Amino acid sequence: MDDGAAGLSIREALPGEEAWALDLAIRVAADQVPPNRDSAGPLLAANVERLFAFCRAREHRLLVAEVGGLAVAFALLLINFPNEVTGLPEGYVAYMAVRPELRRRGVARALMAAAEAEARRCGMAQLGLIVTEGNEPARRLYDGLGYLVERTVRCKSL
Ligand SMILES: CC(C)(COP(=O)(O)OP(=O)(O)OC[C@H]1O[C@@H](n2cnc3c(N)ncnc32)[C@H](O)[C@@H]1OP(=O)(O)O)[C@@H](O)C(=O)NCCC(=O)NCCS
Repeated sequence: MDDGAAGLSIREALPGEEAWALDLAIRVAADQVPPNRDSAGPLLAANVERLFAFCRAREHRLLVAEVGGLAVAFALLLINFPNEVTGLPEGYVAYMAVRPELRRRGVARALMAAAEAEARRCGMAQLGLIVTEGNEPARRLYDGLGYLVERTVRCKSL
């Protein structure tokens, strides 16, 4: 996919590029922490590594957004992932991140369009994801793209 106007293109990751995506994912991991939770950098990083390993062992696509030939963002997409309630296979966006200095230029919107197209191409009827309530940029992004809130995760501090 190529969006000439913005010099933005989306492609599958090249061999070895997963390490770059993992590094970016770890750098923005704190954005996913709900404000009522404590967190520690090394544990956050280990969790992100575990998530990448989980995806690597399953049918997945690592989509990379380039601007002017430079990789600036990625989306990690699972295919045929069983929905946690129905068990039916769906596409699932396990992680997405845009380099901070290139945000608010439509990169995430273009990545999500590419993820939706790929999931549809693979026969998926739905695309799911989880977003932290306090992550306003991500919540607004998904709201704007038509992603419904289906269930909520709750926590009470004791
Ligand atoms: C969330 C994130 C992926 C958005 O990336 P982005 O490339 O800046 O998003 P886009 O430019 O495509 O924005 C699309 C829409 O999302 C919403 N949005 C994005 N960033 C926003 C912000 N900081 N504040 C409010 N709305 C925002 C807007 O509706 C925006 O449309 P608009 O610019 O026409 O108003 C990026 O902020 C990021 O990488 N965050 C850290 C990692 C993360 O939270 N990933 C999501 C995990 S669920």
